[in-house]
Amino acid sequence: MDCIIRKWRSDDAKSLSELLNNKKILDNLRDGLPFPYTEKDALDYINAMLNADTNSVFAFAIEYEGKTVGSIGVFRQENIHSKTAEMGYYIGENYWNKGIATSAIKQTCDFVFKNSDIIRIYAEPFARNEASCRVLEKAGFDCEGTLRKNAVKNGIVEDMKMYAKIKSAEQ
Ligand SMILES: CC(C)(COP(=O)(O)OP(=O)(O)OC[C@H]1O[C@@H](n2cnc3c(N)ncnc32)[C@H](O)[C@@H]1OP(=O)(O)O)[C@@H](O)C(=O)NCCC(=O)NCCS
Repeated sequence: MDCIIRKWRSDDAKSLSELLNNKKILDNLRDGLPFPYTEKDALDYINAMLNADTNSVFAFAIEYEGKTVGSIGVFRQENIHSKTAEMGYYIGENYWNKGIATSAIKQTCDFVFKNSDIIRIYAEPFARNEASCRVLEKAGFDCEGTLRKNAVKNGIVEDMKMYAKIKSAEQ
């Protein structure tokens, strides 16, 4: 059974807080998320996504076999990058390696390209994040290069990869 992407609901807060209370996930994301990540933190995020500009923020819960198992979002950039958007995502550890992220990324990109004027979606995984790089490749992204020493995470200087998918003529 494939996963679905859908709008966030307030009653996702409990599942979301459980998924994100995991250092293995947080160590692969930007800083700024509280740890521990409470149900209130999750509800604040869900409300922010539900109230965001629908032409700039495309944020979805990922549901698999009736459970909320992950999060994916595409965020329009500004100024000369207004037709470019950054994508972020994570899947709860219990659900890794079932093809869920690959499918959710494909579905989300299709939705954004069909329902907006965005022409480029990119993601910047840490170079060491082989699972995320693999998922992006499986979802049709191209690796455009290495962003050397582009971040400091947990006190360690990290290389990142730049992956992007471009809207096709049919979309
Ligand atoms: C990255 C992540 C989203 C992948 O989700 P997922 O649902 O498990 O992904 P999929 O099942 O679609 O695909 C995983 C692929 O990575 C591969 N993989 C998993 N762990 C790996 C590792 N340590 N090294 C190399 N490849 C790995 C799997 O074998 C699979 O590829 P395959 O189908 O060719 O065998 C998930 O691991 C996660 O949430 N990680 C923490 C947060 C994160 O990294 N977010 C992305 C930030 S850019």
